[in-house]
Amino acid sequence: MKKVLTADQSETFLNEEVGESYHSYTGAVEEAMKKYAEPTKIRELAKSGQIRILDAFFGMGYNSAMAVSVALEENPDCKIEVVGLELDAAIVSKIQEVNPEIPFFKYYKKLSIDQLSFVEDNVSVKILLGDIRETTKQLGNEYFDVVFWDPFSPKTMPDMWSEDLFKEMARVMKSTGVLATYSCARMVRDNMVKAGLFYDDGPCVGRRGPGTLAVKWE
Ligand SMILES: C[S@@+](CC[C@H](N)C(=O)[O-])C[C@H]1O[C@@H](n2cnc3c(N)ncnc32)[C@H](O)[C@@H]1O
Repeated sequence: MKKVLTADQSETFLNEEVGESYHSYTGAVEEAMKKYAEPTKIRELAKSGQIRILDAFFGMGYNSAMAVSVALEENPDCKIEVVGLELDAAIVSKIQEVNPEIPFFKYYKKLSIDQLSFVEDNVSVKILLGDIRETTKQLGNEYFDVVFWDPFSPKTMPDMWSEDLFKEMARVMKSTGVLATYSCARMVRDNMVKAGLFYDDGPCVGRRGPGTLAVKWE
């Protein structure tokens, strides 16, 4: 895997086999903040004192590490549980090779192939390693406040944007939960609706189309 510097000077990797990078070239850290932490209103949630985050397609965990950083800045006593879902142990080990400007990321360095979880004060982080179509089965109903949905693109990996997987997300999200993703593809949004999710435009960050935010039908 080749290391790449993105436009905000944060590092990512290019996966040559897939033909895609792990983050947007317009800025990996910017993406974690503007496409995931901000639109899911992490700062507001932190005031409630407890947040459960599902970081689906965890990779090196930039998205949840940013969300934890923002939450702790707002409320240092906030209790936060992060569950990451990731197939590839090799990308988790790449955490040691990057240093994004995300305050909580220094603790993510505790993660490795041999250590897939840690607790740091009020924050617990655990990665379930395996195919997401299997690992989601381990998750409880109505559990998560926030889901970050960050697979490779719908064009390359359509199976990761399926109705069935979004149904699983509808199952594990609280009634007040929100899912954020970078894609606005028609197929993605149609599958969300079929799965019982209601969507809206997410923010436009460094690309032409907006992202998508999804919540459950009441
Ligand atoms: C765009 S990258 C995610 C980047 C990540 N959010 C980060 O901050 O580093 C997509 C990730 O999906 C993972 N992936 C691909 N197929 C998967 C599957 N079937 N189940 C779980 N994860 C998968 C890849 O290994 C890769 O790490």
